[in-house]
Amino acid sequence: MLDNMERGLQVKPERPSTLKMLPTYVRSTPNGTEFGDFLVLDLGGAIFRILKVKLSRASGVEMESEVFEISEEIRTGTGEQLFDHVADCLGRFLQHRNLGKEVLPLGFTFSFPCVQSQLDKSVLISWTKGFRCSGVEGKDVVQLLRNAIQRRGDYKVDVIAIVNDTVGTMMSCGYKDHSCEVGFIVGTGTNVCYMEEMGNMEAVEGDEGTMCINVEWGTLGDDGTLNDIVTEYDSQMDQTSSEPGRQRFDKMISGMYMGEIVRHVLVKLTSQGLLFGGVSTQQLLKKGTFGTKDVSDIENDNFPFEKTKSVLAALGLKPSEQDCVQVKCVCSAVSLRSARLCAAGLSAVASRIKNNRQHYLGRVTVGVDGSVYKTNPKFGEHLNEALRELAPGCQVKFLVSEDGSGKGTAIVTAVAQRLATQRKH
Ligand code: GLC
Repeated sequence: MLDNMERGLQVKPERPSTLKMLPTYVRSTPNGTEFGDFLVLDLGGAIFRILKVKLSRASGVEMESEVFEISEEIRTGTGEQLFDHVADCLGRFLQHRNLGKEVLPLGFTFSFPCVQSQLDKSVLISWTKGFRCSGVEGKDVVQLLRNAIQRRGDYKVDVIAIVNDTVGTMMSCGYKDHSCEVGFIVGTGTNVCYMEEMGNMEAVEGDEGTMCINVEWGTLGDDGTLNDIVTEYDSQMDQTSSEPGRQRFDKMISGMYMGEIVRHVLVKLTSQGLLFGGVSTQQLLKKGTFGTKDVSDIENDNFPFEKTKSVLAALGLKPSEQDCVQVKCVCSAVSLRSARLCAAGLSAVASRIKNNRQHYLGRVTVGVDGSVYKTNPKFGEHLNEALRELAPGCQVKFLVSEDGSGKGTAIVTAVAQRLATQRKH
């Protein structure tokens, strides 16, 4: 990971890096003087959220939000359909709140790998997490959003910034704790961002200060470097995924894939006669029937295994007590591996920050979000334990983002708007 991070920052590395190390044009963590009313669109996981965020000196942060569905049809349809849907949901959100006449500044949390050349210009490299909308890869998604809003013509917004969810999370947690300089997500997908020295970034002009880098660590291993630890179950899951061969690190860690890995193990153990009396069911053999929430529920279940029994019963299985013990063992192993791989990645990031700083204080604060971290209490325990082993010289403190990356994106938007206004005067 460290070696790939280093090479990813170079313009012409000896060997290409599998990590994209994308500059985000976010130059500082928040300092608490960001104020105003903002709209935030949050697209990139299982749900699409729209938020109105008010940052004020008097009452801190106030937010209202609405969740909209992105159907499978839209996720795999055309880009135009996707952005028309986004613009339609935003229109409804504004109408419900009588905001149709105002022109509010908008920040867009778009959680996919993008090449940014400025804060409001962001070209999608490739879709991840099961999104496959045509005509978007290689295009500036801010422009696609502006076009869709213009096609409707019944309201206006000012799209100021586009931000990856890791960056939004770091900024969100950084509002409370100014020492937070890492953003980490482990939910539908996994990824990390951190503050890097400008002097180390060959692709961006200037040597002064820092800039946030979106690591896109999910691609680690896409060149085969993780093959030693890839199992047959990972390979089976990868082959039937929407992007075979890609996002290999992501696929060993994140919520979109964990359930499917467990399912493949259960299928194999059953076929060997080691589970369920050797009798499989159609549901167990079907892709996607075992969710990550099931993995977490079972990992945290104990005798008499009520949760485990009900998850397995929904798949038509009739587990014995011994089956439950074994299934719990499989779930714990897959989830433990996920947490330990995250810890390995985070210890690389922490050690990079440590080596970068002249005055290193011996601790790193990480803003964290994502359903895997938040819904499985064991996950954080495993993560902390592994970090103590892997980064003994560094105290890693986690700050859980309570409000998603919405507040963070609003803060980035606020800073950008303030700078733009200063330039105009
Ligand atoms: C995927 C995306 C990345 C995002 C992460 C978490 O790995 O490529 O941009 O940050 O998921 O949502």
